[in-house]
Amino acid sequence: MSPTGHTDAGTAGGAIPRLSMRGIGKAFPGVQALRNVSFNVARGEVHALIGENGAGKSSLLKVLSGVYRADAGDIRVDGKLVDAASPKAARMQGIALIHQELQQVPHLDVAQNMFLGMPLTHGGVFTDKTQMRARASTALASLDPSIDVTAPIRTLRVAQRQIVEIARALLSDARVIAMDEPTSSLTPREFERLTEVIATLAARGVGVIYVSHKLEEVYRVCTRATVLRDGALVGVVDLANTTEDMLVGMMVGRTIEARAHHGHAGTERVLEISGLGRGHAVRGVSFALHRGEVLGIAGLVGAGRTELVRLIAGVDRADSGTVSLHGRPIRSASPREAIGHGIALLPEERKRDGIVPLRSIVSNMALPAFQRWSRFGLVRTQALRQRVREMTERVGLRPPDIDRPIRLFSGGNQQKAILGRWLMADAGILMFDEPTRGIDVGAKADIYRLIEDLVQQGKSVIVVSSELPEIMRLSDRVLVMWRGEMAGILERADMNESAIMHLAVSGGRPQ
Ligand SMILES: Nc1ncnc2c1ncn2[C@@H]1O[C@H](COP(=O)(O)OP(=O)(O)OP(=O)(O)O)[C@@H](O)[C@H]1O
Ligand SMILES: [Mg+2]
Repeated sequence: MSPTGHTDAGTAGGAIPRLSMRGIGKAFPGVQALRNVSFNVARGEVHALIGENGAGKSSLLKVLSGVYRADAGDIRVDGKLVDAASPKAARMQGIALIHQELQQVPHLDVAQNMFLGMPLTHGGVFTDKTQMRARASTALASLDPSIDVTAPIRTLRVAQRQIVEIARALLSDARVIAMDEPTSSLTPREFERLTEVIATLAARGVGVIYVSHKLEEVYRVCTRATVLRDGALVGVVDLANTTEDMLVGMMVGRTIEARAHHGHAGTERVLEISGLGRGHAVRGVSFALHRGEVLGIAGLVGAGRTELVRLIAGVDRADSGTVSLHGRPIRSASPREAIGHGIALLPEERKRDGIVPLRSIVSNMALPAFQRWSRFGLVRTQALRQRVREMTERVGLRPPDIDRPIRLFSGGNQQKAILGRWLMADAGILMFDEPTRGIDVGAKADIYRLIEDLVQQGKSVIVVSSELPEIMRLSDRVLVMWRGEMAGILERADMNESAIMHLAVSGGRPQ
């Protein structure tokens, strides 16, 4: 398919692009992560870099910012050749990468973090604190004046820490700022704030690169997009005359069937929650989950959605209420006990507490289910490997190499492996907290299909999601949380975005 609106990237009017990468190649053992990729960003442009999980987006940014050394190609900023031999060298030449996992020192304050590795420090000692703080606040003033430069960085929210990183880039006079999935843990309001910050950067002439799987955001923030697939350039488009379907087609090289909702919910009550609560976070929640049902849980960030599923999964202890399974009250003092009852939770913070980076996919996936695969202390390796292979196929892991250390997989593929791991626990009740965060459009459709398979087999599913289209696509009913309470449950027939939002925002009370 040849994209329409193809432009000669960033050279409109013959101006020299802010950034130009030409013929970039990068191989890892067994994987050609990038092949002959060219990529341009104009001055003051916000340019999206999109593609499926494993397409090479992060690799391209890491080459740009000196984390990896390219095997081929060159990089120019304002027409001048850049030698990105190290992150520091790239930074000195005007290039900054805002990593998804922010690399800050928690106990240092905001100003100190902004000046890490910069001239005002000498042998790790800050030479002039007053001057440092003054310069830090000047850099922050245009982005977010509410941030206190003397506050320890660990007391800031992720969104604010991101803004500190951006201000840090401005201090080193960055002319190109790349952001790798900057919004994956931001609230809608924080996203709005970030769009303002990005507009400020663009107005100063900075070339901004924006990586995201959320196409809605891409359309809001960016003017052009470069699409990668399997490490190669598919095309560069003007977003104003490219539809979302066209973009998806370029990303995945096929069309994704939009399937309708198929209900499988029975009437048998599998799980009953009554008056469940913990402090202020969750108060007096009661509902039933049926066999074969998908129950969506919606609500604003902080409404108690994650806390609710954590109580059911035995991660946190409830201080009131009961959980009954098939009519019998149960108590889960730990996730292990909950899994023993057949209740599993795929948590929201998967990366941090979910994986052992150096170990293979097999050992990472086997962790919680390990006991089931050993008999008289011997692991039944072949059976386990077979099962892992099946699961990685179901979640579409790429590359499908189960002996490769998990840290070598792209971000989205690590998520898929962890998803597969929870499916291996073979629970009757599966709870997913933001199951498709960081996952590309094609894989999203695979995960929806997988959830449907589960309920078709008679399992019951709870899905917490901030994405309303996802909730509407999957759920038989949706429970809406509001300030720790249950604002209401909507049946499928009454489910629409405005009804859900009304409950989420006002708790269903007249305003
Ligand atoms: N350090 C590494 N060693 C070996 N292989 C790697 C390494 N980093 C990335 N890869 C491989 O390079 C390919 C591209 O990965 P990359 O992280 O760039 O993808 P991505 O487009 O950022 O995907 P995602 O949307 O999942 O974050 C993948 O096949 C990945 O497994
Ligand atoms: Mg990535």
